[in-house]
Parts: sequence; C-alpha cells; structure tokens
Amino acid sequence: MDFSRISLRPFKLCDSDNFLRWASDDRVTRYLRWNTITTKEEALTYIEKVAIPHPWRQSICLDDRSIGYVSIKPESGEDKCRAHVSYAVGAAYWGQGIVTEAMKMAISEVFKDFPDLVRLEALVEVENRGSQRVLEKVGFLKEGLLRKYGYCKGEIRDMFVYSFLSTDNIL
Ligand SMILES: CC(C)(COP(=O)(O)OP(=O)(O)OC[C@H]1O[C@@H](n2cnc3c(N)ncnc32)[C@H](O)[C@@H]1OP(=O)(O)O)[C@@H](O)C(=O)NCCC(=O)NCCS
Repeated sequence: MDFSRISLRPFKLCDSDNFLRWASDDRVTRYLRWNTITTKEEALTYIEKVAIPHPWRQSICLDDRSIGYVSIKPESGEDKCRAHVSYAVGAAYWGQGIVTEAMKMAISEVFKDFPDLVRLEALVEVENRGSQRVLEKVGFLKEGLLRKYGYCKGEIRDMFVYSFLSTDNIL
C-alpha cells in the first residue's frame, strides 16, 4: 500500500454510496457498537445525523474515496481528559496496514484539536486480534482485561482496555 493515497477528512453526504459499501458488511460491523447499514437512505441519515455532527469522526479515504472511519470521542466535563477510540475499514482492505496508518495520522492531529485531552482509550473484544494488533503497532499500552464489561451485538463481552497518552510516542 502506498500510504500517500490514504487521507483522513470529515464525512460528506456525497460519501453515502462508498460508505454503504463497507457499512453494509456484517464482518465490518461485528465488533462495532452500531448496526449494519442496509440502504442508501440509512447511509445518508447516518452521515447527516451521526458522522457529521460527531466531535471527531473522520472518513479514512483511499484517493479521497471513503473506505472506513476513525472516531475519537472526548468525554465531557471533568472527564474531558479522556476520549474513546473506534475504527473500521472495508473488508477488501484488511491486512494492508491502512487502519494502523490512519490511527497514527489521527493521533498526531487529535491532541492538537482537543488541548485538554490526555488519554485515548480503546476497548477491544478478546477475539478481535486484528484490532489488538493495530493498537499495539500504533503504540497503545494494553492495561488489562475487563471481564463482562459491556454489550456488543446483544452479548456481554470480555474486553481488553488499551490506552495511549499524549506523552506517549507513536511507534
Ligand atoms: C480490525 C481492523 C480495524 C484492522 O484494520 P487493518 O487495516 O486490516 O489493520 P492493519 O492492516 O493495519 O493491521 C492488522 C494487523 O492485525 C493482524 N491480524 C488481522 N487479523 C488477525 C487475526 N485474526 N489474528 C491475529 N492477527 C490478525 C494482521 O496480520 C496485522 O498485523 P501485522 O501487520 O503484524 O501482520 C479491520 O479488520 C476492521 O475494520 N475490522 C472490523 C471493525 C473492527 O473490528 N473495528 C475495531 C473495533 S475495536
């Protein structure tokens, strides 16, 4: 993969067809908190009501075509030091280093965009080895196992918690 073809930018309504291509795939949404999107109308509504108003949700683009997303959501009030991280890319692009590269790009921006932010946090299902590898390759620290931590797709899951601090180095 030539990483100069990869960029991050906010979502636009005209991404809906490309967004639907990967967001309609159960393999992509399996470990995500949101459900598979099935129609163009749902895709448009999701982009308009969720992706665009989100404090920091960027489209991962290949030659400016949306193939995935990275989302970093700071908590509010006294917890604004902490943000939750989430990401995905279309299955056709798995295993090419794209999300690792996108995460590195996101981290180098997000601490500038949110000056109060100190800690990025990711929760990953125990079975999701690919996602754990992404975090390890970026430089996140695995802090431990949260037993029966939260629901995902109707089941209570064990999850690993990973963190990256503003003082940590991107690998
Ligand atoms: C997980 C996901 C984001 C990874 O994206 P990606 O662009 O394929 O990631 P990268 O290519 O940068 O790195 C993936 C790494 O995981 C490894 N990997 C993938 N599947 C694996 C598995 N089942 N077991 C072990 N390692 C695995 C790859 O070999 C690669 O590691 P390497 O570079 O050391 O070989 C992508 O598969 C995805 O979108 N999955 C669905 C959504 C999701 O799970 N999001 C995360 C929610 S916490």
